[in-house]
Amino acid sequence: MTTHEVRISPLRDDLPFGARVHGVTRESLREEANRRTIRQAFEDHALLLFEAVEESPAMQLAISETLGPLKDHPVSKVPRTDEALAAGVIELKSDPNDDQLVVEYQGRRMTNFLPWHFDHSYNNELNRAGVLRPVIIAPEGGQTGFADGIALYESLPAGLKARLEGVNVIYDLGVMQPRMRFGVPEGMRVVQVPAALTAVEEQAKTKRRAVHPAVWRRATGEKVLHVGLLHAVGIEGRENPEGDALLHEVVQFIMDNTLAYFHQWRLGQMLTWDNWRMLHCVTGSDPRYPRQMHRTTIAGDYGLGYFECDRRPAPQPVA
Ligand SMILES: [Fe+2]
Repeated sequence: MTTHEVRISPLRDDLPFGARVHGVTRESLREEANRRTIRQAFEDHALLLFEAVEESPAMQLAISETLGPLKDHPVSKVPRTDEALAAGVIELKSDPNDDQLVVEYQGRRMTNFLPWHFDHSYNNELNRAGVLRPVIIAPEGGQTGFADGIALYESLPAGLKARLEGVNVIYDLGVMQPRMRFGVPEGMRVVQVPAALTAVEEQAKTKRRAVHPAVWRRATGEKVLHVGLLHAVGIEGRENPEGDALLHEVVQFIMDNTLAYFHQWRLGQMLTWDNWRMLHCVTGSDPRYPRQMHRTTIAGDYGLGYFECDRRPAPQPVA
C-alpha cells in the first residue's frame, strides 16, 4: 500500500492516446508502485502530462529517471543547460534579443516553427522519450503538437498502407527548416537563419545519413506510421520522382491529420512522450516574445534504424 498515490486520468476523452498524471512529488516518486504505474501509463498512453509538479530541474530529472536512464544529445552543437546539473539536459530557447530562426507564413513572422517529426531521426539510434519542462511560455502560439503513429497508421487509406510496406525513409541532420524538402507549408519562407542552426548544418556534413522504416510493428502488435518531415530527404533506393511523390503523399497525410493534440503550456507542468510511437511539432510563436523549454533525453532504442552503408538489421516481420 502506497502512502502517496499517483493517479492517472485521460488527457482528453476523444483522443486515442495521452494521460494526465496527478500526485507526482519527490516523495511519491520514491515508491516503486508509483514508478510502475507511471511506466505502464507511458507504455499504454504514449504521452503523459504531469500536472502540478515542482518547477525545478531536480524534479525534471526525477521524473525522467522514472522512465529510464538519461542519455546525452547526439549533436554537440545543440545548447546544453548547466552540465553540472545534468548531462544531456538541452535548452530549447527563443529570445527576441538573440539570433533566432524566423519564418514568414500567411503574412506573419514566426519563430519556434518545427514541423512534425520524431527525435533523433537523423541518428541510427532513437531515444525512448524526452521530458519537456516549460521555463518561459510564449503568451500566444508555441504549442507543442502530438500525433499518434498507431492512430495514423490505422487511418491510412488501404492503397497508401500497401505502398508503404517495406519502405525506409532517409534522414539528414543538415536538412532543417531552411532546406526542408517535404512538408513545407505552402507559402512559408525562411527569413532569418541563426548562426547556431548553421553550425548544426556544418556539423551534419560530417555525419552519414540515417535510415528508418516508415512503418514498424510494436512488440504489442500494433503498427506505427513513423515518418518525420524535418530531416527527410527521400526513400531508400527510390530517390527519384516516383519515390518523392510517395513521400510527399504520406507527409501530406500526416499534415492533414485531425486527431492531433496541441498542448498549451502552463508552468508547473511537465510532459513526456513515446518517441518510438508519437510524432511531435511546435506551432510558431511571435518572434517578439521569448520562449524557453528544457528537455531531457531518455535512452532506449527500437533497433530498426541504421546509418547508410552500415549493415542493415534483420528485417522485422511486418505481415
Ligand atoms: Fe523534437
